[in-house]
Amino acid sequence: MLGFPRQRLRRLRKTQVVRDLVAETTLSIKKFVYPLFISQEVTSPKEIAAMPGIYQLPLSVVAKEAKKIYQLGIPAVLLFGIPGKKDAVGTQAYAQTGIIQKAIKKIKKEVPELLVITDVCLCEYTDHGHCGVLDRNGYVKNDESLVLLAKMALSHVEAGADIVAPSDMMDGRVGAIRTILDKNKYENTPIMAYSAKYASGFYGPFREAAQSTPKFGDRRSYQMDPRNVQEALREVAADIEEGADMIMVKPALSYLDVITQVKQHFNLPLVAYNVSGEYSMIKAAAQKGWIDEERIVMEVLTSIQRAGADIIISYFAPQLALWLQNKK
Ligand code: PBG
Repeated sequence: MLGFPRQRLRRLRKTQVVRDLVAETTLSIKKFVYPLFISQEVTSPKEIAAMPGIYQLPLSVVAKEAKKIYQLGIPAVLLFGIPGKKDAVGTQAYAQTGIIQKAIKKIKKEVPELLVITDVCLCEYTDHGHCGVLDRNGYVKNDESLVLLAKMALSHVEAGADIVAPSDMMDGRVGAIRTILDKNKYENTPIMAYSAKYASGFYGPFREAAQSTPKFGDRRSYQMDPRNVQEALREVAADIEEGADMIMVKPALSYLDVITQVKQHFNLPLVAYNVSGEYSMIKAAAQKGWIDEERIVMEVLTSIQRAGADIIISYFAPQLALWLQNKK
């Protein structure tokens, strides 16, 4: 026997308008952040081989690019820098004349309304490619690295950054950054912490983009083990206690369960990073004609939001903006 309100589920799926009306998840470009790679090593935009459509940009085009992004309705960019010179302690990461410090000023002058978020991590600036400074055995020294990361964050904020996003995964970095910002009267600058950042193969294309592959070893002694989820909750709790204003899970797709659990346990704005490998896989399959790119991207981004992300960092943001506009 069929229950009484027969076919209710189907009635709510009948037409597009009804489906939209009852939809539980609606993508908005206002919730997206677009990463930009700014390089001192190029003089014109250089496409990243493993990330079709994504470029390393010279400083000279950054303001124009920022304006385009803003006009697409994307509210924020996340900046990564590739310096001209690297050394053991990542000096260019916190130099006032560093690539990111200069880029922030250019963007803020051209489009002050665009939120500028900066990645705070030493791996693009150290000659060994690790996210902190090393001891004699090549092991990352946590507390020594904190001092440099805090200096780096402060220099970004002094240059005009709206939000800083530490991605290095050292213990105590959120607290160290909060302390130095407060001391310098930047109490109102939020910290977006990459709290649950897994040691992931999905960062492969990024490392080509940011030229930040470690020269030896890997990042497993400071990034998280993909087998763990309780550990993610501990990482998030620690960051919140130290003063994080937003928390992040990264990567997104293989970690949707982590996003959901973090969302259930904590009530700060939750960010998910739809990382480079997740982008490249879709691009590659789409270029081969194996999948429908727009359909897959919509499905993937929707799944990240449905899992519990409030904010999504994605290389697809400009395309998404156009797709969403055409839907209207
Ligand atoms: C570290 C950093 C990484 C990414 C963002 N910040 C790479 C890493 O930890 O090796 C990866 C982002 C992506 O893959 O899109 N500065």
